[in-house]
Amino acid sequence: MASKLRDRANDLDALNERALAGGGADQVARQHAQGKLTARERLDLLLDPDSFVELDRFVVHQCSEFGMEQKRVPGDGVVTGHGTIDGRKVFVFAQDFTVLGGSLGPAHASKIVKILDLALSVGAPVIGLCDSGGARIQEGVAALGGYAEIFYRNTLASGVIPQISVILGPSAGGAVYSPALTDFVFMVEGISYMFITGPDVIKAVTHEQVDKEALGGAETHATTSGVCHFGMPDEASCMRAVRTLLSYLPANNAEDPPLTFSDDPPGRLVHQLDDFVPVDSHEPYDMAELVRLLVDDGKLCMVHERYAKNMVTAFARIGGRAVGIVANQPSHLAGVLDVDASIKAARFVRCCDCFNVPLVTFVDVPGFLPGVDQEHSGIIKHGAKLLYAFSEATVPKITVIVRKAYGGAYDVMSSKHIGADCNFAFPTAEIAVMGPAGATNIIFRREIESAEDPEARRAELLEDYRQRFASPYRAAELGFVDEVIHPRDVRHRIHAALSVLATKRKSLPHKKHGNIPL
Ligand code: HXC
Repeated sequence: MASKLRDRANDLDALNERALAGGGADQVARQHAQGKLTARERLDLLLDPDSFVELDRFVVHQCSEFGMEQKRVPGDGVVTGHGTIDGRKVFVFAQDFTVLGGSLGPAHASKIVKILDLALSVGAPVIGLCDSGGARIQEGVAALGGYAEIFYRNTLASGVIPQISVILGPSAGGAVYSPALTDFVFMVEGISYMFITGPDVIKAVTHEQVDKEALGGAETHATTSGVCHFGMPDEASCMRAVRTLLSYLPANNAEDPPLTFSDDPPGRLVHQLDDFVPVDSHEPYDMAELVRLLVDDGKLCMVHERYAKNMVTAFARIGGRAVGIVANQPSHLAGVLDVDASIKAARFVRCCDCFNVPLVTFVDVPGFLPGVDQEHSGIIKHGAKLLYAFSEATVPKITVIVRKAYGGAYDVMSSKHIGADCNFAFPTAEIAVMGPAGATNIIFRREIESAEDPEARRAELLEDYRQRFASPYRAAELGFVDEVIHPRDVRHRIHAALSVLATKRKSLPHKKHGNIPL
């Protein structure tokens, strides 16, 4: 009897061992030789020590085409379960490239679907570590169905629980659409790539020559396409960044982000800011640095840091409260609003809004970028996305006009008129339909042309316009700006506003959903 029990225990141990070995020592060595960690090594880096609880370790595929019955590995190429990050519950799946190239058939898909369903029902984030050759060719349409089941759940879970995709290998074809549906995409230089069709197909169809790194590597997606929010140098820093990002987010849309303790006093005066912004409004400065000076411990978690650099989107904390920072960046393209910056900021605003992260917007924007290319690329509809996103957001919205707020861009950048709760301006703010030079040339053209000394008259009128309009005081007289503040006071004023607005309740008119200009 005892020996029978021992046999059964041994069977279990053997099965566990087989599952833990993944595709076997050779495949693991190959994975390491490619500079990649295994699925389980990755989960060890991501999760709190000893917190991982695995589900479905013994699931195998049911396919017997093409000799597949000889290729059954317990777990079917994906490790799934839950664990904790900083003590908070998360659900995870990690595709195992050592088993059939991490390819996805219906059994593999159903493990991921189970995780997504569980995460949604208990209200906890999901993190997917993706390293896969895509749809398992031998399993045909059943594999495609498996993908679609995942896409469907990604969509249902959107805005309810944070979903994070970490690409740590290939992600090709329609398989890219699960990451694309999630809130944040991480990639690692040298090992991750994403594309709908690879270099060979592109060469055959369009005759373009491109390698997979240039086509869809981490650098490309972090700088050019914007598909990737965080392009990281290696897997370890990538996992740390995922953990940091989660610290700013609630577990689900019914909760607030966690409050954290900081030694940085909320009432700290930021004296460096009093002479931070150049007097000459054409002179650039680093808006990210300005924001860093005023947030808790100088910490900014930049999102899309290298994409559309004329716009800064970042998470930070003020007085321990998580906030989403949206800011024009005068040191890149003068902080102008263009197609990419509008899309980047709109997506971020909506993400903050669905996860109850208050928005703090810093404005220094000369307007929308003029040009045939921008018009033909749809700056009208893309700019409208940002307007829509700010207008629709019901989280606390605080705006600080630092310098320029010209034209339509003034309205768009979380102005009072589209629902901002607290609007501050620095004395350096210039709020007007357009900059002084452009305005003077238009409204005083005849007067300048007919003057005895046109240049002297232009300079005179320009100075007069600057005095009258290039300031925050007209807007303050009209109540569009609640208060003009000294820059040194900005931290404690934002903190006070966040405290007052913590109980903000606002709902939108009843509708199925709005029709954001996509
Ligand atoms: C079945 C696959 C596979 C797949 C890889 N493998 N991809 N098996 N289905 N899709 C297997 C390989 O046969 C191999 O098995 C092992 O995984 C490792 O693959 P290698 O090719 O040796 O690895 P590597 O040289 O690193 O190349 C990786 C790769 C390549 C670039 C991903 O495997 C590849 O091109 N695979 C096919 C990619 C693809 O076209 N997928 C379909 C995309 S379309 P052995 O036994 O030899 O070790 C798609 C549609 C989704 O996914 C649609 C959703 C709507």
